[in-house]
Amino acid sequence: MSKRIFSGAQPTGQLHIGNYLGALKNWVALQDAYECFYCIVNLHAITLPQEPATLKKATLDLARIYLAAGVDPERSTIFIQSDVPQHAELAWVLSCIARMGELERMTQFKDKGKGNAERAGVGLFTYPILMASDILLYQTDLVPVGQDQKQHLELSRDLAERFNRDYGETFKVPEPYIPKAGASIKSLQDAEKKMSKSDENPAGSIFLLDDADTITKKIKRAVTDSGVGVEFDETRPAINNLLIIYQLVTDKTADECVAHFEGKMYGQFKTELAEAVVEFLRPFQERVKQYDDTTLREILDRGAERARSEASRTLKDVYSRTGIN
Ligand code: TRP
Repeated sequence: MSKRIFSGAQPTGQLHIGNYLGALKNWVALQDAYECFYCIVNLHAITLPQEPATLKKATLDLARIYLAAGVDPERSTIFIQSDVPQHAELAWVLSCIARMGELERMTQFKDKGKGNAERAGVGLFTYPILMASDILLYQTDLVPVGQDQKQHLELSRDLAERFNRDYGETFKVPEPYIPKAGASIKSLQDAEKKMSKSDENPAGSIFLLDDADTITKKIKRAVTDSGVGVEFDETRPAINNLLIIYQLVTDKTADECVAHFEGKMYGQFKTELAEAVVEFLRPFQERVKQYDDTTLREILDRGAERARSEASRTLKDVYSRTGIN
């Protein structure tokens, strides 16, 4: 039997090309070798305030984006977290074995809670437990995540091991799967920062649904480094980042990219980069439009049904081992 993958993204903010190249592209490729579960984690989204109508729309839009990127509902299970009540149920059980101390060490809570624990929501604090629940319900082997989620995954592993030790072998202990290339695309406005959904400055990100004009403008205005030559060079992080984007959207090798731009100036490079990004996103943007709400709902209902059947098996086992049922 093939190994199982679980991953998820929150339906908040607009997805950008860094999400696509760092995560989605990889999710799509993994379908060839693994049994994949891809979740839209709307329960995670409300750990910070959300406008209800916006959240609802963003949840379906994110499903559209998964599908348009190439997540194939015939091969993979794509579903909305809240359609599978076992996520919240297991999270409660896990919260009873998790420790305050280990959650207090989560760096993302400190960032998102702005260091003010008095004012931060309890859900924001226990967020990593819900994430552990997502992963452990499906007896997941591998979890493709960015560097920023590694600590949360470590907690998932600790909780699985603790439960197994206290109540008997119940959960598979998941491994992180950190992709090599494209793991971290930087902001177009500040190459020291990750391209981020929560960046207040939209000029730093190329959103997946940006039109050709907007993309071209953002790339033209992207910061560059002093110096000349279009090369992979970590000491010139801005050009380096743009060249990585070029490489990923064109699927060329690093050598091909360097050879292609040899002797060319930044201006010429940016023009070609903008064209390449627009071409890359065009078919994707066409596909996004194909999924009307009815088709989408059908796909998500099927996904949820399949997810529930897996998740309920694990939860039954958990309840019976803990003497709940
Ligand atoms: N915490 C992840 C993020 O913010 C989203 C997430 C929730 C997730 N549950 C998950 C990722 C399970 C991987 C596996 O990006």
